[in-house]
Amino acid sequence: MKIFGVVGAFLVILATVECAKILGVFHLAGKSHYMACSTLMKILAEKGHDVTVIAAHKEKNPPKNYRQIYLDGLSKKLEDVFANMKMFDFNPSPLMGPIFFHFMSTEFIEDVFNHTVFKEFLKADEKFDAVIIEEFQSEAIKYVAHHYNAPLIVYSALDANDWTNPFQGNPDTPSYHPNFYVSHLTNHMSFLERVENTFFYVYAKLLSNLINFPAHNRLVHKYFPSAPDLADIAYNVSLVLLNSDPSVQEPIPKVPSMKDIGGFHIRKPKPLPQDLQTILDNAKHGVIFFSLGSNVKSKDMPKETRDFILRKFSKLKETVIWKFEDPDLPGKPDNVIIRSWLPQNDIFAHKNVKLFISHGGLFSTMEAVYHGLPVMALSVGADQKLNGNRAEANGFARHIPFKEVTEHIFSEVLDDLLSDPKYKENAQMRSQIMRDKPMEPADALNYWVEYVIRHKGAPHLRVAALDLEWYQYLLIDVVLFILAVLLAVVFSLRFLFNSVLKKKLSPGKKND
Ligand SMILES: *[C@@H]1O[C@H](CO)[C@@H](O)[C@H](O)[C@H]1NC(C)=O
Repeated sequence: MKIFGVVGAFLVILATVECAKILGVFHLAGKSHYMACSTLMKILAEKGHDVTVIAAHKEKNPPKNYRQIYLDGLSKKLEDVFANMKMFDFNPSPLMGPIFFHFMSTEFIEDVFNHTVFKEFLKADEKFDAVIIEEFQSEAIKYVAHHYNAPLIVYSALDANDWTNPFQGNPDTPSYHPNFYVSHLTNHMSFLERVENTFFYVYAKLLSNLINFPAHNRLVHKYFPSAPDLADIAYNVSLVLLNSDPSVQEPIPKVPSMKDIGGFHIRKPKPLPQDLQTILDNAKHGVIFFSLGSNVKSKDMPKETRDFILRKFSKLKETVIWKFEDPDLPGKPDNVIIRSWLPQNDIFAHKNVKLFISHGGLFSTMEAVYHGLPVMALSVGADQKLNGNRAEANGFARHIPFKEVTEHIFSEVLDDLLSDPKYKENAQMRSQIMRDKPMEPADALNYWVEYVIRHKGAPHLRVAALDLEWYQYLLIDVVLFILAVLLAVVFSLRFLFNSVLKKKLSPGKKND
């Protein structure tokens, strides 16, 4: 009986979390961001939680427990920005990058705060057990968690970096962790590279503390005048879910409130559409899968590049499946198949796929690693160079920045990837690392979200670093204090020595 009582009480405790009300507020209008965030929320919905998603995109067939608060107009606006940006030439320098993202982020948050649908939603004053936002220099949006007095959970599409670290008191390590914007560096830096990295690290830190954060604070108070100082909200993060995994990223320290869930977006493969299944089954010499992701469109590629890529493909015995957004591609050889949309992960699961030509986006790279596929990374912008360099260093990829691709390089790299077995071997080794975990990433993310709800924001995970001023954290006050004491000792000794010496010497002087 006693046992039943205990089990019963335990079940009641679990039951209170089994169906939590979870709100996701995703202000980034980019499609790839929405896809990852909505996958995260769908996982929570599948686990039985009552999920509400505020976003700039909309599902045609939302799954069970998945309610949508659709902010229309925002994704159209971003598409217009991207259309004007010429994605193949978009590559902000480490100096401009933080400024660009600052303006992009504040503008999109303001568009959300200003949106009628959002305003109405906040007015309805529902109750939520947790609020999830996406970190992308996006402090102001954290206000929503405060509004609902709910634990704040931050999801980041990247590994721990200087966007997430300060708010968790996680050590920043510019000595061996390259800044997001200095994307040609890896974790193994020469002296000069460390100088470069430190310079941009300090630069980004100053911008973020002197410009970005105050701007977000003003933004919050413009729309919510009674809000507390943003520092009280932004540093009050219960949990950070990082799209990171040791099979792809290099190990760095993480405080207990930061959890790796890299690979969570890789779902169990679904059956392929019949036409694709047939193409893949019949590809006797294997399949090369070619996609530049959702922001960079293959159809906008310079014609000259497209032509030499097709020339190379026409000489291959492999079948090429290319995500190409136009219905026709002039000069397309017979072994090249184009589609405007393709179920990438389901295709990767087919045994005939042998190479992935990619833009080096993190989600795509993780899918390739999961399925043990070698990669040709043609990086365009953002973190893709960094991912490409790491993939190359891990031995399963060759990386060429898109701008540097010539006919000769493309042909040479492709032949190398197809002929040297080491790429496949390394890809499979990385795949084994990714699959070797105590818990599936999707289960882990659900577990930690429930954990935070169960423990009322889990304040016991919060490190004391967050209660220190920066000069206290860096021990600058202690160093100054020790220097002061040392100086005081040295000067006192000198004073004593001088006066003793004077006394000893002065009678002698009289004798002279
Ligand atoms: C900080 O988080 C806790 C736990 O989620 C919450 O109860 C509290 O209201 C938050 N503080 C602020 C200022 O939002």
